[in-house]
Amino acid sequence: MSNNLIEWCTAEIGALKARSLFHMPKVHQSAVGARVMIDGKRVIQLSNNSYLGLSTHPKVVEAAHKALDKYGVGSGAVRPISGTMDIHVECEDKIAKFKKTESALLFQSGFTANVGVVSTLAVEGDHIVSDELNHASIIDGARLSKATRAVYKHKDYGHLEELLKEARGAKGIKGKILVVTDGVFSMDGDVADLRACADACDKYDAITMVDDAHATGVLGEKGRGTVHDQHVHDRWSLTVGTLSKAIPVVGGYYAGPKVVKEYLIAKARPFLFSASAPPAVVAAVSACFDVLENEPQHHAKLWENTKFFKQGLKDLGFNTGSSVSPVTPVIVGDGAKAAKFSEILLAAGVYAQGIYFPMVAEKLSRVRTIVSASHSREDLQEALDIFKKCGKQLGLI
Ligand SMILES: Cc1ncc(COP(=O)(O)O)c(C=O)c1O
Repeated sequence: MSNNLIEWCTAEIGALKARSLFHMPKVHQSAVGARVMIDGKRVIQLSNNSYLGLSTHPKVVEAAHKALDKYGVGSGAVRPISGTMDIHVECEDKIAKFKKTESALLFQSGFTANVGVVSTLAVEGDHIVSDELNHASIIDGARLSKATRAVYKHKDYGHLEELLKEARGAKGIKGKILVVTDGVFSMDGDVADLRACADACDKYDAITMVDDAHATGVLGEKGRGTVHDQHVHDRWSLTVGTLSKAIPVVGGYYAGPKVVKEYLIAKARPFLFSASAPPAVVAAVSACFDVLENEPQHHAKLWENTKFFKQGLKDLGFNTGSSVSPVTPVIVGDGAKAAKFSEILLAAGVYAQGIYFPMVAEKLSRVRTIVSASHSREDLQEALDIFKKCGKQLGLI
C-alpha cells in the first residue's frame, strides 16, 4: 500500500489543526429538541435547523411508523427504475400545493437538488449568475454545468444587473441565463431581495432560482418561503429546498413548472442515478407539510422566540451582523476565538457551534445560534445568561 495518501492527509490535517480549523463533530445522544445530550450532559441546543421543532411531533413520528409497517425500509431502486412509490408522488403533490407551484420533484437531499437542478438546466451556451454567499451545493452545481459562470457581490442587485448586461452584451450569451440566490443566507441569516433580483432579471430575460433551505417553514404565510413572503410568486421561475431543516427529516425538492419537472426527470443525474428516499422518510416529510398547513402555532412561536433571543443578544452588546431570521450569528473574529467561545458555552450548558473558514471568511468566525419553536422562554433566558457570562469571560462584551 502506498504511504502517499497517509502522509498527505497527515500533513493537511496537521496544517488545519495548527490554524484551529479542524473540528470533529459533536456527538449527540438524544433526539433533536430544545435541550440535547452531548457528552453525557444535557445542554440547551442552539445549533439545529429544526426550526419548528417537528422532529418528535407525534403525527410525524406516527406517519413514519405506519410507512415502515406498510412499505418496509427502502425502495431498493432509483426513481426511474422501480423506486417511485405512491407516497413519493403524494409527497410531491403536497410540496407543490404548499409552495403553490404547478409541480414538485423530490431529490435525496437539498444538496443533490441544487446540484441536479443547476447542472441540468444550465447547459453549454448558457450562463449562471450566482450570489457570492450562495450555498456550496449551488456552487458545485454550477461547477458541474457546462455553462459559463459569474458571481455578483452579496445582495448587490446593481452588480447583478451589470453582469447580466455584460452577459447579453460583451459576452454574447444567446442562451439561457440562470440567476441563483439563497433565500435566507445560512451563515448570516440575512434575506435576499427577490423583487430587486427579479427586476434585474426581467430586463435581460434571465431565469430566477431561489434556494429556500432556511426559509421554508420560516418566512411567509405558514412558512411558504421567500417567494411568498415577498409576493413575487407570479414573477419567479424556480424554487429548490431542503427537507432537513424546518421539515426536519432528510431530502430536497424542486418546485416550479411541470415541464421543467419533466425535463429534470429525464436528465437530472441525482434523480436518475441515486436511489429514492425511504418510505418512512417520505411519509414523515408529507406529515410535516400537513402540520405546516394545519398548525400555524409552531410558526408563530418560532418568530416569538426569534425576536426575544435576537434582541437579547443585541442588548448584551454582541455583534449579530445583519440577520433578520432565526439564524443569528455572534461574530467574534478569528477561528481560534470562535472555537474557544463555543467550547466555554458548551461547558456552561449551551451548544452553539463555532463556524469557521471555509464556511465563512476567517476574520468573521462566529458561533451561530438558531432558535426553534421548541424552546421555552426559560430555555432562551438561561441561554442569554450563559452568553453574557461567557462573552464577558472572553472580553467580547
Ligand atoms: C442554503 C442551503 N442549501 C442547501 C443545503 C443542503 O441541504 P441538505 O442538508 O438537505 O443537503 C443547506 C444545508 O445546510 C443549506 O443551508
